[in-house]
This record gives sequence, C-alpha cells and structure tokens, in this order.
Amino acid sequence: MCFLWGWRHGSCTALAEDPSSVPIACVYTHVRKPTTAQNSNFQILLSSQKATRSRMEPEAPCPASIPSVERKFHVLVGVTGSVAALKLPLLVSKLLDIPGLEVTVVTTERAKHFYSPQDVPVTLYSDADEWEMWKRRSDPVLHIDLRRWADLMVVAPLDANTLGKVASGICDNLLTCVIRAWDLNKPLLFCPAMNTAMWEHPLTAQQVGQLKAFGYVEIPCVSKKLVCGDQGLGAMAEVEIIVAKVKDVLFQHGGIQQS
Ligand SMILES: Cc1cc2nc3c(=O)[nH]c(=O)nc-3n(C[C@H](O)[C@H](O)[C@H](O)COP(=O)(O)O)c2cc1C
Repeated sequence: MCFLWGWRHGSCTALAEDPSSVPIACVYTHVRKPTTAQNSNFQILLSSQKATRSRMEPEAPCPASIPSVERKFHVLVGVTGSVAALKLPLLVSKLLDIPGLEVTVVTTERAKHFYSPQDVPVTLYSDADEWEMWKRRSDPVLHIDLRRWADLMVVAPLDANTLGKVASGICDNLLTCVIRAWDLNKPLLFCPAMNTAMWEHPLTAQQVGQLKAFGYVEIPCVSKKLVCGDQGLGAMAEVEIIVAKVKDVLFQHGGIQQS
C-alpha cells in the first residue's frame, strides 16, 4: 500500500507505508509546469532512498507500486534580495538543461522585486505559501517538506542580510526556515552577492566562514563593476560557474554521470 500527499502547487508524493525509514515505494510529481528536464538521461533509484512518512490517505491506490521506481534529483534554488536575483530565470533554465533534475524555487519577499515569476518555469514558493498551507495539525509544514524533498540546495544569490541570518540561526521566513532545518548530510551551495563595501566588512568573512564550517559550499563572488557603479568584489559568480559547480557536486553524490 502507498499513500498520496499533495501540496497546493501540485507536487504529489507517494510514500511507503512504514514510517521507520523504509525505502520509498513510489514517488511521482504531477501538474507541474512543463520543464525541459522532463527528458532525463539519469534517474535515481528510489529503492535506495529513505523517507519519513508524510501525510497519508489510507487505501489510496499507488500509481506505481513496483518497488524501485526511478525519480529525478531534486534541486531547491533559494533566491534572496540581491540585484543578482535578476539572473534567477537564467539559472533555473540552465539547471533544467541538466538531464534528470527537478527544480523548485524558494524566494524571499525582497528577491521578488528582481524577477518576474512568469519567467521562472518551475514551482516557486514564498512565505505566503507556508502560512496558507497550514491550517490544522494534519496539514503539511512547507519548510520541513521542502527540506525533505530536496537532494541539494543552492542559494543564489545569497545577500548580506540572509547570510547574516543563516550564520546566526535566524529563521524568520520560508527560505531561512528551510536552511535552519537543513539536513547537513545533503549538499548546500551558496553564492554570496553584495556591494563591495558590504563584502569587505569583517562580518562577511566571519559569516561565510561559519557557513563553510557547517559544511556548506561557497561559490565565491567575483570582482566587476557592480550595478551600483562600484568596482570590486561582491558580484555573484556567473551562472555558468554556478551550474558547473552544481554538476560537480551532483556527480560527487552520484546524482549524475559525468559527461
Ligand atoms: C536595488 C537594490 C539592490 C540590492 N542589492 C543587494 C545585493 O546585491 N546584495 C545585498 O546583500 N543586498 C542588496 N540589497 C539590499 C537587500 O535587498 C536587503 O538587505 C533586503 O532586506 C534583503 O532581504 P532578504 O535577505 O530577505 O532577501 C539591495 C537592495 C536594493 C533596493
């Protein structure tokens, strides 16, 4: 027997009946906006995955009750209120070019200022979703479900504000709650992006050092003429560099085969 669980934007996961970390019986998604990642060359065998039971509907028919159904590798993109959030649509589309990836985005409110949701061809979550979704005890807690769902997280850009929050454990929005609850056995990559003056402030090195001490992987910022006109370090790494690093980490974790 397996059970269905769904959330507002249409992701539906069927989990094994036994909550004691048995292999997932079947996982699938539906009603997602079409993505170029639909054609996957690699798949992860769910028989090797573990999961904790989520919300259940007893006796629901299992859409694929064979024990080892394959699924995509789940990449969660976090985006914060740096001007580099302009590059979110490009980043998502390049990630979707990697065969076998499923991508979901978690955004801060400030980040929304820099891109148009219509340009982001995947499910996008923000603070309102978390609070609209939870009405009673049996409802899903979005930040926990997202940290379970994700196999890898990349925060691009990571602005100075969220960097400071994450380094000190503050979790006052959906994105920082996901990170606060992050499973340290899974990779988390972060791409700092801020004005040079912010970057050069001694707090920044301390906070970046703290994230690296958690085992998170820094994709260093670069030096260039910033949008504010200043020249210097602080610009987010190029999207191609970020995607290459995601590929490297996926390869190390057995998520993809090297091309
Ligand atoms: C036009 C504009 C561009 C900004 N760019 C950056 C940036 O590149 N890096 C940064 O750390 N903050 C930047 N900020 C400031 C952040 O948006 C601000 O600290 C905000 O509170 C961040 O919220 P968040 O971390 O919840 O997304 C910018 C603000 C504005 C108005």
